[in-house]
Amino acid sequence: MGDNAKLDLGGKPSEYPVVSGTIGPDVIDIRKLYAATGAFTFDPGFTSTAACESAITYIDGDEGVLLHRGYPIDQLAEQSSFMEVSYLLLNGELPSKAELDKFSNTITRHTMVHEQLAQFFRGFRRDAHPMAIMCGVVGALSAFYHDSTDINDPQQRLIASHRLIAKIPTIAAMAYQYSVGRPFVFPKNDLSYTGNFLRMTFANPAEEYEVDPIVEDAMDKIFILHADHEQNASTSTVRLAGSSGANPFACIAAGIACLWGPAHGGANEAALNMLREIGTPDRIPEFIARAKNKDDPFRLMGFGHRVYKNFDPRAKVLSKAATDVLNKLGKNDPVLDTARELEQIALKDPYFVDKKLYPNVDFYSGVILSAIGFPTNMFTVLFALARTVGWVAQWNEMISDPQQKIGRPRQLYTGATKRDYVPVDKR
Ligand code: ACO
Repeated sequence: MGDNAKLDLGGKPSEYPVVSGTIGPDVIDIRKLYAATGAFTFDPGFTSTAACESAITYIDGDEGVLLHRGYPIDQLAEQSSFMEVSYLLLNGELPSKAELDKFSNTITRHTMVHEQLAQFFRGFRRDAHPMAIMCGVVGALSAFYHDSTDINDPQQRLIASHRLIAKIPTIAAMAYQYSVGRPFVFPKNDLSYTGNFLRMTFANPAEEYEVDPIVEDAMDKIFILHADHEQNASTSTVRLAGSSGANPFACIAAGIACLWGPAHGGANEAALNMLREIGTPDRIPEFIARAKNKDDPFRLMGFGHRVYKNFDPRAKVLSKAATDVLNKLGKNDPVLDTARELEQIALKDPYFVDKKLYPNVDFYSGVILSAIGFPTNMFTVLFALARTVGWVAQWNEMISDPQQKIGRPRQLYTGATKRDYVPVDKR
């Protein structure tokens, strides 16, 4: 706890405690502000507002640092696995070998979905966006697993968490198989979390599917890099939905809906579409000019971030991984050359330099996902799959927080003041 912050509003002084975390900016605890002054704070977009206390993920946007439970993201991406990172996010510590085996086994044994859920898919058009299917089907899980919707029971919360992490890859794979008109593939328990997902997505029942270790490794890395990211829009959505006591399946469906937007998770799809539209490096100046033009709504997708005013550390890992994966798979995608050239040009352009716009996680992930064989409309689904563990960890943290209250922002009202109703024949 530091010094108090002093406020003088209309000649009436009041003081607010300044609270320090373990690292990062101090916060001014303004919970008593309204009672003391009758005024609200105004912060659309929450650029200066900490909405909760959290011990899961830390970001230093100026330095380009991302830590999960204290561990740097690049170390986790290079040395860990998605299952291990999931355990870490949920439990706060890295697991022992026995703990990891037990956790992985539990997740593996929850990967099947209720058989009736498969019928739910048939209500969607074949050309439905897979994120639309994800919103619907994940929300529908609350109708199938009534025994894990009591949020006040820690055991039910644990089971719901395991179910969500385990079933999301199955549902995501089903969304893909449905879109290409192929039958659903059941999970196989001797495969890893990521290998299992790849098989459920790409296998057809007529032949054996061998998981390619290069693809499995790249996919696992992408999952690690997307696992959590502090209080971003979709995580805050999950927390806000959960703050009313809604069940965890409904809350995660809300998070998926928020993630879909092109300013958030939808940017990976938009970034690759943009790179394909640019096509060849000689067209880059035209697109840079459009991004800088105030009258053109076009933005360089995969560039810029609300928090990172430096390189997104996840983009650094993915930039290297993109070259590795394409080399290992023997693929040569001109989109990667366009991406590299665009990055170089933008990083030297005063517009991007002055506004501190750097490549974000979405800039290179699409190149890798496309090399693996995913269509662009699946990119955000993969993001949702990986982020589910972060959402679940944050939701659990919120429910266990004794300070937790229903989230209820206030407003600056600018509408009409009180006026009398006029009957329609008098208007
Ligand atoms: N291309 C061109 N200009 C940009 C870009 C961009 N990608 N990003 C920001 N700017 C400009 C804005 O026009 C604005 O200019 P101004 O100050 O002259 O008005 C300035 O930079 C600040 O941008 P804001 O939108 O105010 O910043 P904010 O923090 O609200 O936005 C966001 C961050 C939404 C990520 C933005 O950078 C963006 O739209 N980027 C493209 C989409 C994208 O890649 N999103 C993925 C984010 S990462 C994730 O969700 C995993």
